Amino acid sequence: MDTPQFLAGKHLAITGGGRGLGLQIATSLAQAGASVSLIDIDRMLVDQAAAKLNAQGFSARGYTANVADETSVLALFGQMKQDQLHLDGLVNNAGILRDGLLVKVRDGEVQTMSLAQWQAVIDVNLTGVFLCGREAAAWMVTERSAGVIINISSISQAGNLGQTNYSAAKAGVSAMTVTWAKELARYGIRVASIAPGFIETEMTGSMKPEALERVKQSVPLNRVGQPDNIAQAVTFILTNDYYSGRILEVDGGLRI
Ligand code: NAI
Repeated sequence: MDTPQFLAGKHLAITGGGRGLGLQIATSLAQAGASVSLIDIDRMLVDQAAAKLNAQGFSARGYTANVADETSVLALFGQMKQDQLHLDGLVNNAGILRDGLLVKVRDGEVQTMSLAQWQAVIDVNLTGVFLCGREAAAWMVTERSAGVIINISSISQAGNLGQTNYSAAKAGVSAMTVTWAKELARYGIRVASIAPGFIETEMTGSMKPEALERVKQSVPLNRVGQPDNIAQAVTFILTNDYYSGRILEVDGGLRI
């Protein structure tokens, strides 16, 4: 059966669209009729991903940008406008991990999380969302068009061992979501977050197998989630016009 084309005529941009959750979200939105812009720091990944979608008969563009860098983000949005696009929605999905304990003792020596380790995650996962969300909102307001901004937070927003940097960034993303929903509602813009639990992507693939097994056993549904579970949440937020200012948890019932 064909997927209903309920997003026909809409253009949606997805950061971190080159692989993982971002690519699955883009694919699902394209299947629902949207044209999609994939944005990623990795040129090869994003070009391949866009080409694959186009080969399947969807409408996809690939843009290379670093969401953590203001100059790069301004150039990206400038280019999308030059390409005569109209923005109906942005999914702020790009993110990285640089896990480590705040302080640990190894062979009697005290080691700490470096400032570089902290800053890299804050730059991409928090500042990146701020920069892209700001530019998307300004574009929608300028064009007087209603739109939706969806930020990908994480179950780690509650505070997770080994993730001082990541948890702080994701908690910040959730707080920005609520703030933006309040500020932007007057322009017809809705803003919401999704807080995934553990989802099978390259990101979780980098975890040690025994750590991933421990995670699985702690999930009430006894398995990790699939990227499509998150894509379905994105579709729900896009299509439910009374959903704003909230963080949708998709985690199989896990609490960390
Ligand atoms: P991933 O590592 O598979 O994909 C992330 C994508 O973002 C990559 O294509 C990467 O090149 C891109 N990217 C990284 N830094 C960038 C930058 N500075 N500018 C532009 N693009 C950049 O990760 P995954 O698993 O798909 O995660 C996507 C989002 O979901 C992230 O925000 C992550 O924190 C969040 N998340 C993932 C979970 C999981 O279990 N996979 C759980 C909770 C949240």
